[in-house]
Amino acid sequence: MAERDGIIAIDQGTTSSRAIVFELQGKIMATAQQEFPQHYPHSGWVEHDPQDLLDSTINTCRRAIRAAKAAGVHPSTIGITNQRETTVVWDRQTGEPVHNAVVWQDRRTAERCAALKAAGHEALIAERTGLLLDPYFSATKIAWILDNTHGARERANKGELAFGTVDTWLLWKLTGGRSHATDATNASRTLLFDIHRQCWDEELLGLFDIPLALMPEVRDSASAFGTTDADILGVALPVEGIAGDQHAAMVGQCCFRPGMIKSTYGTGCFALMNTGAEAVPSRNRLLTTTAYRINGEPTYALEGAIFIAGAAIQWLRDELGIIAHASQSEGLANDAEAEGLYMVPAFTGLGAPWWDPNARGAIFGLTRNTGVPEFVHAALDSVCLQTGDLLEAMAGDSGAQQETLRVDGGMVANNWLLQRLADLTGLAVERPEIIETTALGAACLAGLQHGHYESLEDLGSQWALNRRFEPAISRSAREHIVEGWHDAVRRTLTT
Ligand code: G3P
Repeated sequence: MAERDGIIAIDQGTTSSRAIVFELQGKIMATAQQEFPQHYPHSGWVEHDPQDLLDSTINTCRRAIRAAKAAGVHPSTIGITNQRETTVVWDRQTGEPVHNAVVWQDRRTAERCAALKAAGHEALIAERTGLLLDPYFSATKIAWILDNTHGARERANKGELAFGTVDTWLLWKLTGGRSHATDATNASRTLLFDIHRQCWDEELLGLFDIPLALMPEVRDSASAFGTTDADILGVALPVEGIAGDQHAAMVGQCCFRPGMIKSTYGTGCFALMNTGAEAVPSRNRLLTTTAYRINGEPTYALEGAIFIAGAAIQWLRDELGIIAHASQSEGLANDAEAEGLYMVPAFTGLGAPWWDPNARGAIFGLTRNTGVPEFVHAALDSVCLQTGDLLEAMAGDSGAQQETLRVDGGMVANNWLLQRLADLTGLAVERPEIIETTALGAACLAGLQHGHYESLEDLGSQWALNRRFEPAISRSAREHIVEGWHDAVRRTLTT
């Protein structure tokens, strides 16, 4: 069998770790996935054991590398993509975490954020970082760990501890503690990174009381990050691409031109619109973020973040037990009579464009004939309607007329959902051949750095359409449904 080069992508997500080996043309040669436990120590708190994140990553990489080799494909480089904002602090000497990872969904620092907002700091923070004062981001999570772990603040001040988002934690461990680095996209989610100057901001570090000595070096998304220890993965491979998962999906979806939008449906839903070399400030409570940084040149995006998308279906399955598998949702929604029924899945507050950490979920419009299909319909509708809110905010901020939305992530196998998304947003929805776009994006970044690809344009030519969904309901029907949705959302808001 002829031996071929491949690229391995690590996709460390909120509920599972995955490793995928791609051939250079983008074909998937091997894939491995492992879930790990979620920890909810108090209401609104979400933690991961950093060792679980590492072990599941190592395990899936080893399995995927073995399977790819059996098929004649040998990975030559690694790309890492990861759940963003989730915060790990560890001891530089021992490599031991000082606390569990505080996950992006965790709301424990809501009060701290409210106090900083009341003290008038949000405008400066938004101007420098493109973000808002919300517990979602890393800064208040880091400060919480330093303040609530015995001796941590003192050790951090002495330079004995290291902070990282999950990419940085994995990189540190996979390289045997030789590399403490991140990329510009992950840095852009911390509330501590000036996205215009592309460096850590001393004033913000001071405001959040975080020592610079804790912070990783920030590099381009395609860059030489370090080489893995052969003892850990079984091979010594260079890590040459890193990007937060939503940013990697932008690359995997080849959204390289200003105005192009992708929306990824995983635990949450994240829609990003490329705004080119310009960091466009939002007037509609979206985030401004680094889409990717290549050869020192940042490309920016406007982002809308929704905390609950696939998680609404998981809730129906795991908490209510009214469906056995997520895959049933397509057939059930199709059978539903759900006129006027709305689910607002504010289980962990509401993200963009509402940003209310204290809002909680609700269902409105229940009738005697509301049953399981109707619940499923309302849950899927909430995903589409929230996406619609993000797109409307993006159109308001950019002034650009949108026509299509590229979608990816586990949920987009559901044809009913994508048709409904087209109907409720009024945009054509495009599903690519490869829906593992997040992993593909990480692989592309690593391949770019390794010299497998010449340029982003080279990558762009590889994007292939699987199916396009056109809006099929009238504008007035759409407006009627959206009006009811906004009424439901208003009734859950606390601010
Ligand atoms: O910002 C959080 C996001 O990166 C998590 O993504 O795919 O794990 O839901 P996912």
